[in-house]
Amino acid sequence: MKFRTLPGTDLQLSALGFGCWAIGGKWWGEDVEDRRSIAAIRSALDHGINWFDTAPLYGHGHADKILVEALGRRRHEVVIATKVGVRFRLGEGHAASDLTPDHIVADCEASLRRLKLETIPLLQVHWPCEKDTPIEATLEALMALREGGKIRHFGLCNYGSEALKQALAYCPELACLQTPYSMLRREFEYALREVVAPEGAQRLGVLVYETLCRGLLTGKFATRPVFPASDLRHADARFTEPIWSRVQPLIAALRTVGAKLDAPPAALAIAWTLRQPGVSVAIVGAKRPEQVAANVRAIELLAREKVWQALQPHVDACRP
Ligand SMILES: NC(=O)c1ccc[n+]([C@@H]2O[C@H](COP(=O)([O-])OP(=O)(O)OC[C@H]3O[C@@H](n4cnc5c(N)ncnc54)[C@H](OP(=O)(O)O)[C@@H]3O)[C@@H](O)[C@H]2O)c1
Repeated sequence: MKFRTLPGTDLQLSALGFGCWAIGGKWWGEDVEDRRSIAAIRSALDHGINWFDTAPLYGHGHADKILVEALGRRRHEVVIATKVGVRFRLGEGHAASDLTPDHIVADCEASLRRLKLETIPLLQVHWPCEKDTPIEATLEALMALREGGKIRHFGLCNYGSEALKQALAYCPELACLQTPYSMLRREFEYALREVVAPEGAQRLGVLVYETLCRGLLTGKFATRPVFPASDLRHADARFTEPIWSRVQPLIAALRTVGAKLDAPPAALAIAWTLRQPGVSVAIVGAKRPEQVAANVRAIELLAREKVWQALQPHVDACRP
């Protein structure tokens, strides 16, 4: 495993983090089994992964429960990165971001109880405000939680360049931005140029997610899959036309190069993101230990310059 330090923090994170969304058991189909999720988390530990990205929304607390069960006392040794701010009703219905200071505090307290921690190493705003709370008020609440020892660091997820710029102006010690980024989703590159590292020096950590495009870039789908309604991918445009056909040449290239190197296409897709300027670490979701074992092979591919030169034209050809 390789480790990277988030700028301005003592957070030394493994290049791959374990994403806990799917193991929450909601929105990811019918094949999530707690026993295998626990095995996947333990396999991540065995492979040197030292941080876990979760959220209250993931299975409405179930991901946290499984994470605590799998880690046991080791939850105090690793970095648990969770999120704050989303209100969901326990039945169905739309979840919404409530970033009022009262809700930030209550949501953080609930996570501390669920995760059986006294301090959360990294607390991230799950997505931008959908009410009218000024970002400064939210940041004040996070700073107060840090002062009170409830959290060690805080960051933001899914903020665009302008909002991120505003947040950094008010609170330069923001630890990180969590953002989607992959061979097929590269909007982050604009924020990188404009805000994250405008003069080359990185101002905060960047944690990228969906590096596998929800499994698409693993190359495991020989034909276009049809997901059940319980799997969020049934409505994901990347698994329907015209995107499905447009990305097949890239997936074929990942399979071919992977076969030559005896490496899984998933590892190539993850390694590509880890090599991009400004990317600190990648969060990768997994339901089973075999998936973790395949994904961590990204590390051994990072320095294969010729491989990356060969693959880049295929990646660029996927730009819309
Ligand atoms: N902050 C946010 O708003 C936000 C949003 C999204 C995600 N995230 C975080 O980022 C994490 C990663 O994103 P993601 O889980 O949405 O997408 P992802 O990492 O691109 O895809 C994960 C899924 O791909 C499949 N997979 C993984 N490794 C595989 C392998 N080696 N071979 C075959 N299939 C494999 C698994 O699903 P199947 O086996 O079912 O195919 C797994 O659940 C999340 O868990 C979450 O922690 C954060």
